[in-house]
Parts: sequence; C-alpha cells; structure tokens
Amino acid sequence: MKVFDIAPVKFIEGKMLILDQTKLPGEEVYIEAINKEDVWDAIYHLKVRGAPAIGVAAGYGLYISVRDYQAETADEFAAYVKETADYLNTSRPTAVNLSWALKRMVKVMEEYLAGCADALEMGEALPEERKIHWVKEVLRMEAEKIHKEDEEACFAMGEYGLSLLKPGMGILTHCNAGTIATAKYGTCLAPIHLGQQRGYDFKVFADETRPLLQGARLTAWELNKNGVDVTLICDNMASIVMKKGLIDAVVVGCDRMAANGDGANKIGTSGVAILAKEYGIPFYMYVPTSTIDLDTPTGAEIEIEQRKGEEIYKMWYEKPMAPEGIKTFNPAFDVTDNKYITAVITEKGIVYPPYDVNLRKIKENE
Ligand code: MRU
Repeated sequence: MKVFDIAPVKFIEGKMLILDQTKLPGEEVYIEAINKEDVWDAIYHLKVRGAPAIGVAAGYGLYISVRDYQAETADEFAAYVKETADYLNTSRPTAVNLSWALKRMVKVMEEYLAGCADALEMGEALPEERKIHWVKEVLRMEAEKIHKEDEEACFAMGEYGLSLLKPGMGILTHCNAGTIATAKYGTCLAPIHLGQQRGYDFKVFADETRPLLQGARLTAWELNKNGVDVTLICDNMASIVMKKGLIDAVVVGCDRMAANGDGANKIGTSGVAILAKEYGIPFYMYVPTSTIDLDTPTGAEIEIEQRKGEEIYKMWYEKPMAPEGIKTFNPAFDVTDNKYITAVITEKGIVYPPYDVNLRKIKENE
C-alpha cells in the first residue's frame, strides 16, 4: 500500500478500523474496534498513537462505543456518553488531543439537546427515541469533522513548514509525527512529504526514539516508503550529526503545548532542542491548535505518562538486557522549555515568541 493510503484510523461503512502500529514495520494490519474497551486498549497500548491520531480515534471511538446503547430517554443516553468519554479519557494522560476531542464530542451533544429543550418550550417536542437517534448522528458527524479538520490542518502545516526549509537541507526528527500519527500527512513530517513531491531532496535523520522505537519502526518506515532519503541514528548520535554540519533544522511534533509555549513531546525531545541551540540550528515544533492547551499555564503542570520499565530492557530483546526486576525510570514524554523553540508551526500560521501572547492570539482566533 502507498504511504498515504495507510491511515491510522479508518471509518468505513460504520466500522472503526485501527492500524495496529505495534506491528510496524513488519506488518500493515488493521484491527476493528467494536466497543469502548477495544478503543481504550488500542490507545493505551499505542496501537494508535500520536496526539492528533489519538484525537481522531477518540472521536470515532466514542461514537462506536455508545451507538448501540439502549436508553429510555435522551438524558439517560447523554449520561452514558459522558461516562464513556470519561472512561476513554483515562487511556493516556499527556496528549491533550484525547481530552480535547472527547470534550468536543460531548459539547456538540449538549448543544443539540439544549436546542431540543428550546424547541420543547415552543411546543415542538421530539419523541425521546428520535432525540437519541439524532444525538448519535451528531456524534458521528462530529467525529468525521475532527478527522477531516486534522487532515486539512496537517496539509496547511506542511505548507507553512516548507516555507522555513530549503532544498537539500539536512533535517533531524525525533519520534514519529507523520501520516500515521495524524489524519494524513503528519505534522512535522508533512513538509518533508510535500517537499518530496516537489523535488526538495531533503536528507532526513531519524532518531530511533527509545524505548518504543517510533523513529526506527515508524518514521524510517514511513519516509522510506515515500522515497525520502532517510538515515536512522540512535538517539545518542544527534550531537555528532549536528556537529558534523549534517543538520540544518530540527522538526518535531507535540503532545501538549502549555500557554507559555513549553511543549511536551516524546521523551528525548528536550535534549535534542538543547543540542540544537548549542549548535545554532533552528528547532521547529509542529503544533496544531488542537494541541495547544491554554488551560495549562506552563510545562510544569503537564502530566507525564510513566510506563513500565520492561520497555527499556526487555521488550525488544530475545533475553533481558538488564538484571530482572532492575529499578527503572521510564517517562514517555519530556517538556521542551519554550526558550529552545525557534518557532511553533500551526495550521493557522507560524508563531514566534513571545509565546504566552502569540499562542493565545492564534488559539482564540479559532
Ligand atoms: O507515545 P507516542 O508514540 O504517542 O508519542 C508520539 C509523539 O510524541 C509525537 O511526536 C506527538 O504525538 C506528535 S504526533 C503528530
């Protein structure tokens, strides 16, 4: 399959299909999610991962989880939708797109029901079963809207991002913020894919991104599949490629950007940003406005997901690479301080410091 035919989440004839990214690069396999437990499990186990893709999965996931629920009244149905949204929201803590998408779904439902209440006051009561039917329709349409908007946002970020890059540049990236982390194209990989179509001939270096190897398994696979010149390096090689002059720009994604411009992204990102500053290399963070969280003042308030230590020393090896039961510290994300971020690329334009002022402007202009 061509790279852009591979979407992390597909919704076809009422079926929610999730690309099982834990099987990449070996197998391109879709699994069907049929209930809330399947959706929760797919997000928790990173079968679907990457902040925007998690948001898309949350939208469809909430819809498919509630559509068969039998309720007597619309209020009872709405209570079940909210309870299910709360449950799905516990699957991963750091990427704000999860709660953002779920809140958006609940909000459109509440707005629809408020409209029904107004109609009732004017003597136009709708039977409860019709209301429930329409609530389901509203939820499905909102999930599709989240999906479509993300695809458009990624394309726009690709164009803005490309305006900062020149043909032939060496580009370092960390983790995977590509087409399989979003609805399509990716955030920070969007300009690379676009550049590929337009003959930019970028030389991309992909950090392997320990411990779950999103750089090796996903970015190297995705860029390679699209014919991009990509070189895989271990995370601890970022400094040498920068020092050798092979890197002209660093591009990364984001899981949650606080109001002051501190950005949480895959563990290891902040170290790359600090190195980039030392070597005078621009560091660009790609952040769709759905990932900007103005309710979180600074990076210090972002909850960082902690994962099992086995991922560090056992999961990828035939035998354990450390003594069984060794103490470990395995945060899945870190926060890059805003001072290391040269620019934030959103779908609405490029944002420069002061981020506390300019992010609010762009977000509130939604
Ligand atoms: O743990 P993951 O694979 O979900 O982490 C993904 C990242 O950190 C991405 O860089 C981020 O979500 C942006 S994806 C466009």
